[in-house]
Amino acid sequence: MNEKMTRKDFLSSLAFGGTALALFPWLNSCSPEKQKAAGGERARLGLIGTGSRGKFHLANLLQDPSAQIVALCDDFPLHLEEAAALCPSAKRYTDYHKLLEDKEVDGVIICTPLSMHAQMVIDSLAAGKHTFCEKAMAHTPEQLLAMIRAWKQSGRVLMIGQQRMFDPKYVKAMELVHGGGIGQVVGIRNYWYRNNDWRREVPAPQYERRINWRLYDEYSRGLMAELACHQLQNGSWAMGGIQPSFVTGTGSIQFWKDGREVFDNVAAIYQYANGVHMTFESIISNKHFGMGEQILGSEGTIDLVRGVIYSETGNRHSGIRQFLDQIAQGILSNSAFAGTSWVTEEASKDPGVRFVDNVTVNDGASTVGAAGDGSVELMHAYCLAVISGDQPAGIVEEAYWSTLLALLGDQATHLAGRVEIPSAEALGVSF
Ligand SMILES: NC(=O)c1ccc[n+]([C@@H]2O[C@H](COP(=O)([O-])OP(=O)(O)OC[C@H]3O[C@@H](n4cnc5c(N)ncnc54)[C@H](O)[C@@H]3O)[C@@H](O)[C@H]2O)c1
Repeated sequence: MNEKMTRKDFLSSLAFGGTALALFPWLNSCSPEKQKAAGGERARLGLIGTGSRGKFHLANLLQDPSAQIVALCDDFPLHLEEAAALCPSAKRYTDYHKLLEDKEVDGVIICTPLSMHAQMVIDSLAAGKHTFCEKAMAHTPEQLLAMIRAWKQSGRVLMIGQQRMFDPKYVKAMELVHGGGIGQVVGIRNYWYRNNDWRREVPAPQYERRINWRLYDEYSRGLMAELACHQLQNGSWAMGGIQPSFVTGTGSIQFWKDGREVFDNVAAIYQYANGVHMTFESIISNKHFGMGEQILGSEGTIDLVRGVIYSETGNRHSGIRQFLDQIAQGILSNSAFAGTSWVTEEASKDPGVRFVDNVTVNDGASTVGAAGDGSVELMHAYCLAVISGDQPAGIVEEAYWSTLLALLGDQATHLAGRVEIPSAEALGVSF
């Protein structure tokens, strides 16, 4: 929210429409009714992990009329000081257990490295706190199950940082998919290319693993957890909550051979029971194609990142029409039954229609962290959930699946093989 934006502007920008609310129930968590019910109350929040993402949320929450930051925690002094400079009135802790004992904190926000999420979430819920944790949810599938059990037992709110669920261009796109706008979903493509070493500057060599935790297996699941986790959610949305049956994958360290343990390029293919595939590919030594997410349908294509819908029908020919075209083009003039039988497939020339206005669309660039990516709305919804104590529907389930798909995809890339994806029923998981 910029300084000129009034509270009324801010709240009206969060109002999602009727169809979206019916299809995506978590959006009710920031509806005007919820907002009204919260009155002028503020959620009293404690932030654990004041690094890059923690400070990003902090800066947004300081602008949110429903948030009050009462405590900050980080065991790395530099990061704690940086956050304290943004919010000097908040109490400071270096041990997160102490923050969890703080009676003034009603809701906790966890922005620590992946390997710490499970224990911190379980401890936070056990301390009776409503809890928000950044994606990915967990470092292992076993941790994921333990977190779901802890959440069910606690009766507290749990939310996970999958901000696309509140991003207007994704919400609109998925409304179009569910409204039949692209016909039957026949494929889902996700890719995320970069050209940098994914390293952060380290103040002294002994801090290498702490600062660059993403590069080491002990803390991270590399590109699958950090990047794919966001994009794999497109499958769940587009397929109406149906999940893939198995994943095959491959990966390697082929360019950034600098002591890192996680792959610098991966490719994974997820297959659904009806035969549809969802792909994810990431290479971090070539960024020519940037970041892309597309839902392919029998009647059209939706480019999620650019907020554009394309039609297939302009290029569609019936069998007979195609046959006549081929005769007209002389392709079949020598023999009706031999030689080239099909016109070479061409890419569509349809310029497409942009289906969202006034939202940030960075053509081909990463939209994560960009203004309007859903992060502000997600955190506002969390504040309202802390105030009401009402669990937003569907959030944990969506986050569970995107993390599980990312973790099993990571296993597949290491095996260079196939990993089965268990159903929730097989694991005894309910949401
Ligand atoms: N949703 C998104 O788009 C998005 C974007 C970026 C990061 N993230 C996620 O946010 C999380 C954090 O990422 P980041 O880039 O901010 O990492 P970071 O390294 O910048 O920050 C992590 C912080 O946690 C602190 N920390 C580590 N151990 C701690 C402990 N025991 N107690 C208290 N603090 C501790 C570190 O000192 C550091 O300040 C990751 O899970 C990442 O995937 C999500």
